[in-house]
Amino acid sequence: MASYDVIIIGAGPGGYVSAIRCAQLGLKTAVVEGRETLGGTCLNVGCIPSKALLHASHLLHEAEHNFADMGLKGKSPSVDWDQMKKYKDDVIGQNTGGIEFLFKKNKIDWLKGWGSIPAVGKVKVGDEVHEAKNIIVASGSVPTALPGVEVDNDKGIVVDSTGALALPKIPKKMVVIGAGVIGLELGSVYARLGAEVTVVEYMDFITPGMDGEVQRQFQKILGKQGFTFILGAAVSGVEASKTKAKVNYKLKKDDSEHSLDADVVLVATGRKPFTDGLGLAELGVEFTPRGQIKTDAHWATNVPGIYAIGDAIVGPMLAHKAEDEGMAVAEVLAGKHGHVNYDVIPGVIYTTPEVASVGKTEQQLKEEGRAIKVGKFSFMGNARAKAVHQGEGFVKLIVDKDTDRVLGCHIIGPGAGDLIHEICVAMEFGASAQDIALTCHAHPTFSEAVREAALACGDGAIHA
Ligand code: NAI
Repeated sequence: MASYDVIIIGAGPGGYVSAIRCAQLGLKTAVVEGRETLGGTCLNVGCIPSKALLHASHLLHEAEHNFADMGLKGKSPSVDWDQMKKYKDDVIGQNTGGIEFLFKKNKIDWLKGWGSIPAVGKVKVGDEVHEAKNIIVASGSVPTALPGVEVDNDKGIVVDSTGALALPKIPKKMVVIGAGVIGLELGSVYARLGAEVTVVEYMDFITPGMDGEVQRQFQKILGKQGFTFILGAAVSGVEASKTKAKVNYKLKKDDSEHSLDADVVLVATGRKPFTDGLGLAELGVEFTPRGQIKTDAHWATNVPGIYAIGDAIVGPMLAHKAEDEGMAVAEVLAGKHGHVNYDVIPGVIYTTPEVASVGKTEQQLKEEGRAIKVGKFSFMGNARAKAVHQGEGFVKLIVDKDTDRVLGCHIIGPGAGDLIHEICVAMEFGASAQDIALTCHAHPTFSEAVREAALACGDGAIHA
């Protein structure tokens, strides 16, 4: 049995980042993790492996669609799926190994196994009980189950995101249930690798919560890439055999019933907090009706000495939100002033083109009755984007009509996931569109499109 200032349960982006910050601030820190490798869902079966497959499949798409146009002639590469999965696994290994190195460097103990909290100040891992002045629950989330649909990742016919990262073979026909981030990113991978991808979505639009104009443009672009969308459709069940599956759904507009055949069905209908087996309810820790651990503004639960962060609590299920909370709670425990600005948390979808947003959407601001100005600039007017066959999409900047202060930004286009951070910094500093417009932007860069959108909030964009 060992004694610590902090024991963190879970080594995902929330937990491992929190551990490093705790150690940097002089706290004796341990992390409990039951997986074979550190990094949680993000590094092992989420963000990182999906980005590896998105990168490889994007290059194939470029070879098939744009190489000849650029004078790069010859046969397009063929796909060695086993090698592509090995490349993905190597990327995972490099990243999870990197966290292990950082743990050693910062003298953080990895308590291997699944942890529980038998009493305040105690964490049980296997047969050992460790003592901790403070406990941070960073246990993450798992895919939600859909009634009438049985996921079996080993069989590889009806899978969730974990199974979709390791399919035995590339399907000819794939049905994706849910047009959210996971469905569209992993759907993109398989569409590029040759699968016929149909997405069945309950809402009448894709990517719920995003700006309406972005949703429409994104759907159009994905349609051109070969996606078929069935919107306003509730999946009622999936019948699976050893080699195929049938997806049954009902159209909301007329209650008519339909079905689709598929080689693989990806269920991507959301995630829920993972807190099973921790013993939190037994200790009296309060939860929201959606199963999220309730916390105050300093990530403290109602039980003294127990804190919680990341996907297990309220808020967007994003690795970077968990990381920020992890750093902030470490600062609180070290007697400093940890803070997270929940109004400036970017969201990114890593398709091609990328989609990124921060702040409020035009619809949200209109509902609030806020007077706004919208500056929009198309990537067709951006020289660099045209040079790399990525002129589709736009930057949409929304500012306060009277003060010109930036309230939100929604980008669909090349490098959107990186471009958005200029706006995040601007929002953190309370900047106006004019501040961005007056800042020199290097030419030729995609970033110029952000400046042009800022100019469009004033006297007008130059290249529009
Ligand atoms: P999501 O919440 O983004 O999307 C789920 C979709 O499924 C919704 O559009 C919903 O309307 C639809 N749906 C639900 N039940 C349905 C039914 N019976 N029939 C048809 N459609 C149905 O969830 P997703 O994509 O599974 O992602 C889970 C979480 O992981 C999200 O919070 C997401 O932000 C996060 N994530 C973030 C990534 C990123 O930041 N790039 C990448 C992957 C995941």
